[in-house]
Amino acid sequence: MSVTAGAKKRVVVFISGGGSNMLSLVSTATDPDFPAEIIAVISDKAEAGGLAKAAALGIATSSFVRRDFQSKEAHEAAILAELDRLQPDIICLAGYMRLLSAAFIQRHEGRILNIHPSLLPLFPGLNTHQRALEAGMKLAGCSVHFVTEAMDDGPIIAQAAVPILAGDTPETLAARVLTVEHKTYPLALRLVAEGQVEMKEGRAVSHAVGEASGTLISPAI
Ligand code: GRF
Repeated sequence: MSVTAGAKKRVVVFISGGGSNMLSLVSTATDPDFPAEIIAVISDKAEAGGLAKAAALGIATSSFVRRDFQSKEAHEAAILAELDRLQPDIICLAGYMRLLSAAFIQRHEGRILNIHPSLLPLFPGLNTHQRALEAGMKLAGCSVHFVTEAMDDGPIIAQAAVPILAGDTPETLAARVLTVEHKTYPLALRLVAEGQVEMKEGRAVSHAVGEASGTLISPAI
């Protein structure tokens, strides 16, 4: 299933926390020329800070707390029912700290995007920045990719790189990477919403012409 070209694409954003990436998508999508609109925000945590921020901007929000459901399947079934109601073209995971099941992903395959704060395939999973520092990396960055069944493993749509500086801690590095996350996710969403990049046979296929590309290099390098 891929995203077809046409009118503004309907996007639902999934969050678990503060939602700064969600806010960058919302703010970019207020541009009348942006090819997508954020129609709703869904969280697995009722206390996620991003929910109130989205609601304050007039965006529909809902939370599905795992402990309110008997099983992962029942939890996901409730979210899938909400998605059936919302009819999104694209789902953006933005700091959503829960693995989606294969069945969930298959229902929306090719239409779910995720952002991860590393240059994938390096450092998937948790403690990304700590591991990049321990490996002695000189570059870090973020990746937006299509979601497949393996964690942080799907085809890459866009990446951005930032330098790792002497004295960096996981916190200072995370903050630097976050600044480019806020540019990279809107770029990737644009590419997918315009049909310039699509997932086909497990790969990200680019139909981009001219200068459209999924690469951002921080000017700080
Ligand atoms: C970001 O670093 C994102 O890459 C990771 O979780 C963090 C979420 O931050 N998956 P925010 O909630 O978007 O501020």
